[in-house]
Order: sequence, then structure tokens, then C-alpha cells
Amino acid sequence: MQVIAHRGASSYAPENTVPAFDLAIQMGADGLETDIRATSDGVLVLLHDAEVGRTTDGQGPVADLSWEQVSQLDAGSWFAPRFAGARIMTLDEFLERYGGRLSLALEVKAPDIEPLVVQALRGRAWLHQVTVTSFSWQTCWEAHRLMPELRVGWLMRDLDADAIQRAEEAGLAQICPPAEGLTSQWVAQAHARGLEVRAWGVRDEALMRGAVEAGVKGMTVNFPDKLLAHLRARGLR
Ligand code: G3P
Ligand code: CA
Repeated sequence: MQVIAHRGASSYAPENTVPAFDLAIQMGADGLETDIRATSDGVLVLLHDAEVGRTTDGQGPVADLSWEQVSQLDAGSWFAPRFAGARIMTLDEFLERYGGRLSLALEVKAPDIEPLVVQALRGRAWLHQVTVTSFSWQTCWEAHRLMPELRVGWLMRDLDADAIQRAEEAGLAQICPPAEGLTSQWVAQAHARGLEVRAWGVRDEALMRGAVEAGVKGMTVNFPDKLLAHLRARGLR
């Protein structure tokens, strides 16, 4: 059961920044999840939204800003004054800092950047600890095609028999359904087909406990400390 810190320990520190990732590691998370987009000059950066406005002191689509512009943004103050000065990371910085230390779930948010993501991962000794994920089937397909040895996980909004069959036939490693409504029957069915099930959308502790009950192999959570405590209390750690 992988405890994956969603955008880092993002309940407690600004998402997708060093403070959130470092805190997740301190808490004992097994993995870090993050979101990948590209700047106008093709630098891969960690940002959830298409626009920088919610999580920085800048404005506009990240795809319209150069890395020089993005690197100046304050990605911490919006969360709390003590995080002022936290920066948007590049994917390369993230991989250098955290690669090989714990598992990494890299969500590709923008279209057509699969070749750049794969290039950043090529030759890494810890590739087996990486899963590239996306809600886009096209992105999953393309990532798997470009690097068949790469673990790929398909993020979905509804888990059904067709989705399981599609992921299995494409040779994906993982499917990622929402925690809400997830049943042990569906999880067992996917696992029986060789697909690892990792839940997302764990908004609260009730959904977290439900996903544990359903038997998932992992989940992304903003509060890895609470999931770890729950697993310890259940004797699962
Ligand atoms: O765990 C996957 C999850 O991160 C997908 O949703 O919107 O948080 O990127 P979102
Ligand atoms: Ca994500």
C-alpha cells in the first residue's frame, strides 16, 4: 500500500514545491505525486493548473510564459507568508532531488510533451520507481509507445470493465480510479488482470479509509501523515 503525497504534503505546504515534497518525505510517505506542464520555451515545470494565478504571484497560462519568467514567480506566499520565496520547480530539478529516494508519480497535464518527459527519464537507474500518469488516453498510449519499459498509469473518472480491458490490452501498469464509489470487487477484478489499482480524489479521511478497505495498492493524499497513522492503527504498517 503506497502512500503517495499528492503534490507533496499539500495540506500543509504549498503544492508542488520543495517544502511540500520535503515535508512528505519527513512524514514517511512512500511516494510523491506531481503535475507536469511546459513553459513557452519548452521547459518542463511542476504546476497543476494551466494558469499560474492560483498558486503564484503571476498571471496567465504557463504555456505563454518563458522559463525565465516562470522562475521569478513566488509559489509559496499564496499558501502562507512563511513559504514566501518557494519557487516553481523544473522537472529536472525534481528528478535530481528526489529520484531514487522514493517512488514518483508524474502526471502529464499538457498535450504533446510526452517526448520531453520520456527524455528526462531515459537512462535513470531508478526508472522502476517512476509511474507516468495522465487522464489523457493519448498521452498514456504515447508514453508507453515511446518507452515500453516505463510504468504508465491511466487516470480515469469511471472504472468499468471496458476501462480495465483497454488498459490491460495496451500494456499499462496501473489504473487510477477515483476513491469515491470504489469497490473491492472492481479493485480485485483489475488486480486479477495484472493492473495495479491506485486511487485518486481522496478528499477526506472517510474516502481514504474506504479506499484502504477496497484493497487499492496505493493512493494519492494531501495528508500522508493521516494515511500512515490509519495504516499503522490497522496493523498494515
Ligand atoms: O492522483 C491524481 C490526481 O492528482 C489527479 O487529479 O487534479 O489533482 O491532478 P489532480
Ligand atoms: Ca495530479
